Amino acid sequence: MGILRWQRRDRVASPDMSDGARVLADQPQSGNQDAAVTAPVTEAPAQPGSDIATLDWEALRSRVSACTACALHTSRTQTVFGVGNPSADWLVIGEAPGADEDKQGEPFVGRAGQLLNAMLLACGLKREQVYIANILKCRPPNNRDPRPEEVISCEAYLMRQIALIQPKLILAVGRIAAQNLLQCDTPIGKLRGQVHRFRDTGIPLVATYHPAYLLRSPAEKRKAWQDLQLAMRTVDEPPA
Ligand code: URA
Repeated sequence: MGILRWQRRDRVASPDMSDGARVLADQPQSGNQDAAVTAPVTEAPAQPGSDIATLDWEALRSRVSACTACALHTSRTQTVFGVGNPSADWLVIGEAPGADEDKQGEPFVGRAGQLLNAMLLACGLKREQVYIANILKCRPPNNRDPRPEEVISCEAYLMRQIALIQPKLILAVGRIAAQNLLQCDTPIGKLRGQVHRFRDTGIPLVATYHPAYLLRSPAEKRKAWQDLQLAMRTVDEPPA
């Protein structure tokens, strides 16, 4: 895979660690009554349900797995709910499942997931200690960017996950996650490197580069490590 390790310099000395962290390799109304009778009825898309904010984990998981709120349900193999510790301090949020995740039903299991695991380990965290979820629970075909209507359809699920976990920190990985969570279109390079608040929850949010991007642009790993260090400090010493 080319991903060997992402290490904290202060924990594991390595002759190759010249920077803070490095992965060593890398429906219409009609006035015409006849028309009103004969016009085909356009079904409104099924919506996730207004009771999502009241669901427990099991009910939420089951609602997600049966979801038909957007067109992505027609092309998915399965939904990708999320994985990890339901009482985690860290909630990692990515973009959407890719091909591997769609097959396995778990977020971040492909090559980018391996790098994510290594990044977490560099922070002293095993994958099982954090919770990992995505903006979307279904894979967009050909890994295209999520569409606004898909994000809107899926949002209540993620909001409920956040409310159930009550993490000390949200780590948004990648532009899509960061921009959607922060409801802005600021470039990721400007969103990273600082502590934001997640909407009215007040939960601190740190944005960083997506591991898939880091695989393509290893020179940016240094900045990602700075973001992870900021995330660790934020969990240890939450902002007032
Ligand atoms: N990329 C993401 O953003 N999420 C996944 O689950 C896998 C790859």
